Amino acid sequence: MADTAPDANAGALAPRQVPRSVAIIMDGNGRWAQQRGLPRVAGHRAGALAVDRVTEEAARLGIESLTLYAFSSENWQRPQGEVDALWKLLVRDLKRRGPKCVKQGIRLISIGRRDRMPPTASAELDRVMHETAGGKRMQLCLALDYGGWWDLGELAERVRQGERAGTLPAGPLTRETLERLLPSAAVPPVDLLIRTGGEARISNFLPWQLAYAELLFLPTLWPEFDAAGLAAACAEFARRSRRFGRVEASPEAALRTAPPPPVAPAVAPPRRRGLAALLRSRR
Ligand code: FPP
Repeated sequence: MADTAPDANAGALAPRQVPRSVAIIMDGNGRWAQQRGLPRVAGHRAGALAVDRVTEEAARLGIESLTLYAFSSENWQRPQGEVDALWKLLVRDLKRRGPKCVKQGIRLISIGRRDRMPPTASAELDRVMHETAGGKRMQLCLALDYGGWWDLGELAERVRQGERAGTLPAGPLTRETLERLLPSAAVPPVDLLIRTGGEARISNFLPWQLAYAELLFLPTLWPEFDAAGLAAACAEFARRSRRFGRVEASPEAALRTAPPPPVAPAVAPPRRRGLAALLRSRR
């Protein structure tokens, strides 16, 4: 079930109430087009305009990292015509997005597989990443041919290779080491996940970074999402109580902090105790 759209009143948000890292599943392009008797690709084109509005507002609000699910590993299963149209649109969009990002101080990066996307898309991505590398105001990350199973599978592969080559730090594998090796390492822990389009699922998006994210599922179709919608989502985020496993949100626990590091793993696993020993210790 989708949440109802929150009231917009983010103008009053203190900077520390603004989520540092936001991720969005931009769903509903196809339905938006269908409702208007248009081809699905028209919905994606309208969706690209929503990306402009939301990116601009995110930077204005002070969000530091915005990650958009633009093409998932599973999207290859769509009709070939739609897949081709999506990549064509993405390449065209990147060409116009570069100069806009430079003007707004936005650094564009991407996560996901590079070996299956059209070479023109890969080349254009490299070019825009290079063009916008100096942007300090916000990171805009496009997830392209991205899937969480791929991300974690590739992480496991890197650990295996690191073990073979002896390049991993000595001792137990820590969260920090794993985060350095994660292919999507450039995306920080997500504070707020927004999914438009009325469905309430994560769809293989950023499983590592979403571990402690606040989830917001909205009925709005993506092409209709706008600056006010993002501001309202941030206002809803500011009303959430984030405890990160504690009993209450302590005053010193900022709303948008990353979760505290995990308890260090025991160096040696506790010795297994037999039933008799356990019973003896209870006496
Ligand atoms: C899901 O809606 C959307 C996509 C698979 C593509 C997202 C692409 C864009 C927003 C356009 C371009 C992106 C950028 C970054 C410029 P859907 O097609 O599944 O919608 P439906 O559920 O209504 O069918």
